[in-house]
Amino acid sequence: MAEPVDFAQNLKQQADIVRVIGDYVKLRKSGAVNFTGLCPFHNEKSPSFSVHVTKQFFHCFGCGASGDVYSFLQKIDNISFPEAVKALALKLGVPMPKQAFSGPGEAADAALRGKLIDIHERATAFFQEQLRAPEAAKAREYLAGRGLDAENIARFRIGFAPDSGFALRDRVRGSFDDHVLRQSGLFSWKDRDTDPEGVNTPVANMYSRFRNRITFPICSEQGKVIAFTARTLETGEKAGPKYLNSPETALYSKSRVLFNLDKAKEVIRKVEYVILVEGQMDCITVFTSGFQNVIASSGTAFTETQVQLLKRFTRNIIVNFDPDTAGAAAAERSIAMLLEEDFDIRLVSLEPGFDPDLFIRKKGKDAYREVLGKPQRYFDWLIERALKMFPPRSPEARVKAINYLLPHIQRIPNAIVRDDVAKNAAQKFGIADQILRQQLRDAAGKRSGTIKSAQASGNTVAEKVLICALTDAANPELRQRAVEAVAAELHRGLNNESMIERLSSISLETDPMSLDWDDAQRQELAGVLIHGHEDVNEALLDETLYTLRQRRMEQRKRELNAEIAEAERRSDSGRLGQLLAELKQLEREQRPQ
Ligand code: UTP
Ligand code: MN
Repeated sequence: MAEPVDFAQNLKQQADIVRVIGDYVKLRKSGAVNFTGLCPFHNEKSPSFSVHVTKQFFHCFGCGASGDVYSFLQKIDNISFPEAVKALALKLGVPMPKQAFSGPGEAADAALRGKLIDIHERATAFFQEQLRAPEAAKAREYLAGRGLDAENIARFRIGFAPDSGFALRDRVRGSFDDHVLRQSGLFSWKDRDTDPEGVNTPVANMYSRFRNRITFPICSEQGKVIAFTARTLETGEKAGPKYLNSPETALYSKSRVLFNLDKAKEVIRKVEYVILVEGQMDCITVFTSGFQNVIASSGTAFTETQVQLLKRFTRNIIVNFDPDTAGAAAAERSIAMLLEEDFDIRLVSLEPGFDPDLFIRKKGKDAYREVLGKPQRYFDWLIERALKMFPPRSPEARVKAINYLLPHIQRIPNAIVRDDVAKNAAQKFGIADQILRQQLRDAAGKRSGTIKSAQASGNTVAEKVLICALTDAANPELRQRAVEAVAAELHRGLNNESMIERLSSISLETDPMSLDWDDAQRQELAGVLIHGHEDVNEALLDETLYTLRQRRMEQRKRELNAEIAEAERRSDSGRLGQLLAELKQLEREQRPQ
């Protein structure tokens, strides 16, 4: 069995860092060997985040974040190295060696999750099959009434949980251990509150959690069913909650999943924005009407994890639920969270009483396209709202309006946008710009996490060429000549003398970015690797070495002249003769051939 370290290294070689990072950051090709995008580790408007194709590392010239595919995964998903290895293996579909699990507990966990995925797959198929049974006539009618045809029912794998406590249980029992059934979230038992693990409850006493409901699978980002939400067909007291959801399981955590992200993610990337609706029925109707870049928050406020998840695909969002009504608190919190992550937020407000699902079914998708086409900027909406709440007829009202707006504006991470919004608000409220902006500046003072600007490199062209040649694994001859130049001390006196020396002593296989450089060196090296390589060839190296040699000779001449003066002073004629000979030789060499 492979050692974990070997496994990690092999895996890394199989991975394409551009594709892995591309799942999180929108990357554009910007050179023969590099891609750039907006850094996911700090807020920025113009891309200073680079990924090097052949050297397989990333580097941000804005915040200095840097590393290989594992450090990227560790940093972005806030996970440990072993977890990053696992995550990468999963992405590449490479099975993990058993030993690589850090303990038996973890291996058991992974095994359980695998089983839970299996049982959800089985349950999904079971519910789909049940939707075709005679018993499900009402359910089919209901779905037809909501405008769902067979194709879309199949696409979302919508099903029907029959009104039986045992049908599903008895179907899957033979294929799964009891503990898998207990932990699946698909079943319930009387004393679930006191015995959440079901250890005192035999599986025979367990019954289906979902009964007589339409089932909607909830999928992981990879499209695996990991939970269900199920809508009642009943109305009235006995119906229970309208939507019943799976509980948290080893597979499913509500706060980490976005409904429909698996189906929407590619389109979100393509059209560069996402539509956020509240309910899964809204989501399905919007999606099936041709707006496939839609996800649902499922009636609760966004969590930090969900925002981070979404950020990987876009930062442009059209929120299509009215933050003015029932779900207001959740919507406000979601929007606050998005603001802090520098999302461009726009709102679409439908007429009162309409949710997206109803709107499309009543007015059609063209009407929906039209409202989508003219969303309101979040801050315009907010200012309008403040104006409604505090008509600016008195100084007191203006103060109230400002106090209402300030905390929202403060959340904007980008100073330019913040200033712009403040200006706009000041104008609408009829307040002299400076006063409001001064207030804002005071209030927003704490948000000063200014981004260290990519520093102008103090490197000379010669240094860059040397560093490029020394790190050009694709061109060993070029590298050899650079190594010889370093041996001849041509690099002496350059800014990055010590770095160049070290680069000349490592093997071709060593990834130069993996060495323990200090921050400045790392920055320098990344800059050269990302922007330099394609332009460095034999001719440029020749020219560079010539310049360096000249420089070196000038330096040596100065040294010689000083030594000659000293020898003259001491009347050391022997030494003087030697030095003069060397000087003559130097001058001969320096003359162009
Ligand atoms: P709504 O009550 O607005 O329902 O809840 P809806 O989405 O319009 O549902 P339909 O059209 O009547 O089928 C909004 C969302 O809140 C969550 C669901 O995600 C729902 O889509 N919710 C609502 C629950 O989780 N449980 C509930 O009992 C009700
Ligand atoms: Mn609805």
